[in-house]
Parts: sequence; C-alpha cells; structure tokens
Amino acid sequence: MSFDEIIDRSGSHSLKWDMMEKRYGVSADDGIAMWVADMDFRPPACVAEALQRMIDHGVYGYYGDDRSYRASICWWMKERHGWEVDPSWIFTTSGLVNAVAVNLDAFTAPGDGIVLFTPVYHAFARVIQAAERRVVECEMAIDDGVYHMDFDAWDARMTGEEKALVLCSPHNPGGRVWTRAELEGVADFARRHDLLIISDEIHHDLVYPGAAHIPMATLPGIADRLVTLTAPSKTFNIAGSHTGQVIIEDPTLRERFARRMAGLGKSPNSFGLVMTEAAYSPEGAEWVDALVAYLDGNRLLFDDAVNRIPGLRSMPMQSTFLAWVDFAGTGMARDEFTARVEKQARIAANHGPTFGKGGESYLRFNFGTQLSRVHEATERLAAAFADLQ
Ligand SMILES: Cc1ncc(COP(=O)(O)O)c(C=O)c1O
Repeated sequence: MSFDEIIDRSGSHSLKWDMMEKRYGVSADDGIAMWVADMDFRPPACVAEALQRMIDHGVYGYYGDDRSYRASICWWMKERHGWEVDPSWIFTTSGLVNAVAVNLDAFTAPGDGIVLFTPVYHAFARVIQAAERRVVECEMAIDDGVYHMDFDAWDARMTGEEKALVLCSPHNPGGRVWTRAELEGVADFARRHDLLIISDEIHHDLVYPGAAHIPMATLPGIADRLVTLTAPSKTFNIAGSHTGQVIIEDPTLRERFARRMAGLGKSPNSFGLVMTEAAYSPEGAEWVDALVAYLDGNRLLFDDAVNRIPGLRSMPMQSTFLAWVDFAGTGMARDEFTARVEKQARIAANHGPTFGKGGESYLRFNFGTQLSRVHEATERLAAAFADLQ
C-alpha cells in the first residue's frame, strides 16, 4: 500500500475535485482540493476484493442475512474502542447526515431547539433547519489555543425548549478528542436540560498518538438519553457508499427509532454493507494504523509550515484530517484572506462561517491527501501571504 501515489480524481464524479471550480472558482487543472472531507487514497485491498467478489458473482439482488455485517461492527467497536455492542442495537442509514435527520424526525418535533457546540460540522445546522427545528448555537471557548466546553455560559442560554444535542466527538473542525471529564460534563448538561444526545463519532478511528477516543456509550448511566452514530466512511475513505450506523442500547429509544425507520421505508444498499464488513476486519485495522501514521506526518508538516506564516494559526489537533486555520492574525477582512487562498494559492478550503458561531476568521483545510500535495499547498500559502513575512 502506498499513500504517496497521486491519483487523478478529476472526471470521476468526485465532489471534492469535480465541483471545486463551480464552488470556489479553483480549477482542478492547477488547484488543490482541500475542502470536502474525503481523502485521495484508495481503501484497503480487502474492500476492493469484496466488491470484486460481488462483480464476479454478477447478480445484484436484495441483500439478506446481515448477521456477518452486524458481527463485523460489534468486533470493530470492541477491538478498536473497547465498546461492547449487541448486534440488535445497530441500524443502518444512508450515511450520518441522514442518521441525524432520521433522529431529529424520530425524537423531536418542528420548532424544537437542537443544541450545537459551535463551530461544528456544517451539515448539522443545515439538516436541523431543513427539518424546521431551531439551531441553538452554544459557542465553545478557546483556552490554550484549543476548544473547550463552556457549560456555565450554555446553562444560562437554555430555555427549556431544547430537546436534543448533536455532539461531534471527536470534534470537526477543531480536532479535539474529548476527555472523560468533558464527556461527563456533556452527560450532566444533557441531564440538567433533559436533552437527547446524538453523538456523532464518525472520526473516532482517526486519532493521533497521545489521545484516546472514549465512546460516549461507555459512560455509566447515559444509555437512556443516548444515540451513537458511527460509520466506516471517513476511516476507510468509502464515503460514496453512504452507509452509516445508528447504535442504540436503550430499548425504548430503539423501538421509537425502529418505528420511524419503518415509516420511512428505509433499508440499506448491498454495496455499503459488503464494504463495511470487509473494512471492519483485521486487514482493515492494519491499514488504518498505517493511514493514521501517514496522516500524522501530513499534520505535522502542514501545522509546522502554516504556523510559520505570520498571522496564520493552525489549531493543534488530536484527530481528523481537517486542519482549522485562523487568519485573524493577518488583520485582513475575510474576503481578502479567502481570495488570497483561492485566487493566489489556488486552494479550495471550507469557509469558516458555515460551521457556525466562532468560525468567522477560519478556513478548514483537508490534508487527507498525498504528502507531496500537502507540501505544495503550504508553499503556495506561504507565497500568497509572503508580504506578511
Ligand atoms: C462529523 C461528521 N458527521 C457526518 C459526516 C458526513 O457523514 P455522511 O457522509 O455519512 O453523511 C461528516 C463528514 O465530513 C462529519 O465530519
């Protein structure tokens, strides 16, 4: 396996590469796509081999008997996260944005307040608003240069009309891996305000040395207000399979969620299930270990180079392949630093304000790509802001 191989994704219906010009005015011919959160790597061979077996068989009928699929998820959660999951707790959705939407539908009503700790993954707010719920933004504090929970301030904001909290753990875009004490704080906050916790743990496998992800579900006494979302899509770069899992231990919550899934007529596609099962395997685990080591190299290179540019600051991260860079120190207006990144450096990066309150002076850079490209991106950024040196 080589993560260094440059793979040309343009013309492959890649959202990241083929829509970059339309969204950012950055052409794939000479631009670098550092926005959408997928990576430019092929997944482990075990995933391609499982798909090849389907192709060789050649009949693509309805999928049945999902015991081995469920068993692979239970194995992964136990082996990699020390979390014992019963196969009956697992539901399959069309990815995790869909999982958030179905949870809102199952457990809340139009007009309800849904709490987000911002800045946070932009699709949460989009789905909440589209579902005619209200986004309640609780802005995180920055201490020692990284995000922290600010429960005292947030307690004062609650009105009693909030019904759920979507937690991003590990955190996108800040890259924090929440500590046990912080997760206990989230659990207490949810109890105080009677909130369901929808814990999106999609980035749980991509954690750098020195940090350890704690599944919210392993905290005592929280199951009756917890729904956990996981997926192999970020970890194995198979986001196009749009397959994610909703894991619910509590029988009452599970029954309510099951009813809503049935009411929507939802069932998964066979390709996603086969890819998931292939990925959640010892071979998949070995690949993830190598991937995290590679991404760690990208992270160190990116952070080191970006932090040398006066006025730019990449937030220290413990997880994800998404760097959150603050341009406030340049003293430039948002339009100006964004134009320099897009027009001069020819890099497409996500705009901070889409992540909610606190994101105004930031851009998010996806370094889940070949090291040579990350290096090239940092050189272009240094050149685009060379007048500040
Ligand atoms: C926290 C988080 N949740 C969900 C998703 C997307 O999930 P899906 O593609 O399964 O809908 C992302 C993608 O970046 C994410 O960062």
